[in-house]
This record gives sequence, structure tokens and C-alpha cells, in this order.
Amino acid sequence: MANLSLRLSLIFRICAFLLLINVSFAKTLKRDMKALNEVKRLVGWRLVYSWVGDDPCGDGVLPPWSGVTCSTVGDYRVVIKLEVYSMSIVGNFPKAVTKLLDLTVLDLHNNKLTGPIPSEIGRLKRLKTLNLRWNKLQYVLPPEIGGLKSLTSLYLSFNNFKGEIPKELANLHELQYLHIQENHFTGRIPAELGTLQKLRHLDAGNNNLVGSISDLFRIEGCFPALRNLFLNNNYFTGGLPNKLANLTNLEILYLSYNKLTGAIPAALANIPRLTNLHLDHNLFNGSIPEAFYKHPNLKDMYIEGNAFKPDVKAIGAHRVLELSDTDFLV
Ligand SMILES: *[C@@H]1O[C@H](CO)[C@@H](O)[C@H](O)[C@H]1NC(C)=O
Ligand SMILES: *[C@@H]1O[C@H](CO)[C@@H](O)[C@H](O)[C@H]1NC(C)=O
Repeated sequence: MANLSLRLSLIFRICAFLLLINVSFAKTLKRDMKALNEVKRLVGWRLVYSWVGDDPCGDGVLPPWSGVTCSTVGDYRVVIKLEVYSMSIVGNFPKAVTKLLDLTVLDLHNNKLTGPIPSEIGRLKRLKTLNLRWNKLQYVLPPEIGGLKSLTSLYLSFNNFKGEIPKELANLHELQYLHIQENHFTGRIPAELGTLQKLRHLDAGNNNLVGSISDLFRIEGCFPALRNLFLNNNYFTGGLPNKLANLTNLEILYLSYNKLTGAIPAALANIPRLTNLHLDHNLFNGSIPEAFYKHPNLKDMYIEGNAFKPDVKAIGAHRVLELSDTDFLV
């Protein structure tokens, strides 16, 4: 009996000791240490100034590097978040960040990054947020971006991306926020994006996109969670299909500045939570069904710059966006 309790106490002490080692001696994974030191060498003086020492997670004496969040996984510390924004970082997208395989957040927004997103981005299987908005990134999006299976938010707006929107984005089954506005994307938005069950917000405004709205919504039961849809300032053509009324969660629909034609379908007035409907600067004609004017939630319906009958009235007064309003245009 005494023997047993002695053994138990020994086991307990060993466990406690191991736990202690784990806490106080957890080392930063070499892979992450190497990758971030490579990033440190590449980027400008501001970061180097605040990134003191060799260990991005801090070595117990020096603090972790600013914008770096680490977490202990097993015996090691790994980098799980890299948030280095509004730092005026210049140069190419720092490819070494694609070696940080435990990243859940990569936020480099509002810098001066140029060049392409490297295809190696597809390695970051744990990434939930990729925020690269407000940079000067270029070229086509690598299809490998469709490999970021955990992604919920993708912010690529206000860059110089061009070419087609890769249909591989339709593999991002967790995606809720897709912001690709203010780029130079061409071609059609892949209708396959409609299969994303969780997509709430799609902003593709201010690009060079073509195609028809019917084409975008051709998949049965598409875009079931969509709340906000911005397609303004593109080259969309054709009419508005009745099918749009199937987007029962829709609150904001911006179609301004396209080449859309025909009449506004009465079915659209059945979307219960619709608050903003921007139809201005297209080639719409005819009248607007009475139901829109009786809609309980519709605050703004902009109609100017179309071929509507002269008695057709707007709802709300068209306001030009103030700078302070652009905060939500992420
Ligand atoms: C809306 O979707 C349902 C089922 O997906 C379909 O039967 C119906 O025809 C659609 N409505 C319109 C207006 O397309
Ligand atoms: C509206 O425009 C469509 C084509 O864009 C045309 O076929 C139709 O006749 C027009 N309707 C009216 C009332 O002008």
C-alpha cells in the first residue's frame, strides 16, 4: 500500500515537473522563427525597430514582436496571428509568411505591398482572415487561394488585381465576407460562388466585370445567406430576373453605374429586409411597381440616370458618400 502511494506521488511529481518544463521552456518553433526573421530582413525600418531580438514570440526577457501573436501547441510556441497594418511597408508580398502554417489571421492591410500574391498562400490551411486591402498588389489571383479551407473573411479590396475572379473561391465553404471591390477584375463573377452557404457579404464594385445578373444567379438555391451585394460600377448588362427575389436575406443591393436594362420586377419588393436599393445610372425603363413605395424597410431607392417614365420617384435623397462613411467599405 505504502509502495503504491509512493509510486503515485512519484508519478505526480514527474507530471508536475513535465508541466513546468512545458510552460517555462516552450520554445518557439524554428520554422516560425526562421520565417519571421526572413520577413524582418525584407521589410522596412519601422518594423525592425519594434521587432527586437530573434524570437518573434519573445524569449521571456524581450516581449513578443508587435503584431505577432503566439500560442503554445504541444512543446512549442507557434505564430497564430500576424497583424502588421498601416506601417507603410513597401516591396513585394513577403512570401516567407506562407511558411507560418499555424496562422489564423494574416492582416497586412494599408501598406504599400506590390507584386502578386504567391501561389504558396494555399499552404495556410488554418487561415480564417486574410486582409490585404489597401495595398498595391497586382496580377491575377492565384487559384491556390481556393485551398484556404478555413477562411471566413477575404479582404482584397483597393488593390490593382486584374484578370478573372478564380472559380476556386467557390471552394471556401466557410467564407462569409468577400471584398474584391476597387480592383481591375475582368470577365464574369463565377456563378459557382452561389454555392457558398455562409456568404453574407459580396462586394465586387468598381471593377471591369461583365455578364448578366441572371447568369450570376443561375444555380438553383444560390447565395442563401447573402445580405449585402455590391455590383456597382461595372459593365453588367441585361435585365433583373425575378429570381433575385429568392435572396430572402438581402438588405443592400447596389447596382449603380452598370448597363442594366428593362423593367424592375415587382417580385423584388417581396424581399422582406431590403433597406437599400441602388438602381441609378443604368438603362432601366418603365415604371416602378407600387409595392416598393409601401415596403416597410426600404429607406433608399436611387433611380436617377435611367430611362424610367417621368413620374417615377426615388425613395430617400441620394447622398454622396462622406469620407467618414467609407469606414465600412473595407
Ligand atoms: C426560388 O427558389 C425556388 C426553390 O429553389 C424555386 O422553386 C423558385 O422558382 C424560385 N423563384 C424564382 C422567382 O425564381
Ligand atoms: C424597355 O427596354 C427594353 C429593352 O431594353 C425594351 O425591349 C422595352 O420595349 C422597353 N420598354 C419601355 C416601356 O420602354
